[in-house]
Amino acid sequence: MDHNTQQETAHGPAKRKEMSRRQFLSYTLGGAGAFMAGGAILPMIRFAVDPILVKKQKGSFVKAIEESKVTNEPQQIDFTVHQVDGWYESDPKMQAWITKDASGKIFALSPICKHLGCTIGKFGKEIPNVYLCPCHGAEYTIDGKNLKVAPKPLDQYQVKTDNGWVYLGPLEPNSRV
Ligand code: FES
Repeated sequence: MDHNTQQETAHGPAKRKEMSRRQFLSYTLGGAGAFMAGGAILPMIRFAVDPILVKKQKGSFVKAIEESKVTNEPQQIDFTVHQVDGWYESDPKMQAWITKDASGKIFALSPICKHLGCTIGKFGKEIPNVYLCPCHGAEYTIDGKNLKVAPKPLDQYQVKTDNGWVYLGPLEPNSRV
């Protein structure tokens, strides 16, 4: 117990507690250190979570085929999509079966079977008027309606036409059946 404390104890409780030089120095240095550490760490945290904060781009469309070449006979087309997923960018190859219906509307189906994900075959090749999946025998109509084995219709691509070209966008559930 130091001299001051002894005096305070002897003459009743202290009214005001002075900050010692040591406390002042530790608060000042601690505060300055925390401020500098925050300045160094916060940009790193912002950098790490940046992909989460970036708004997802709306699905972009890819030029697929000339509009005049699309017929009522399904055609297989291959195209590449540029994907950005956080830090990871890729260009996966995609396929579609593209057809014009009786009213002239163009639609494009995903070739991925809704049973377990195999790739369906050419329309009408093995069995007339159906897409057949070679893995377990799922069958689909020209509109992608599931006839057997698969629990759901084939997905369809968003489609738009511009200046004589057909553009394909993201996949969505089949709205034709
Ligand atoms: S994956 Fe197509 S029928 Fe099973």
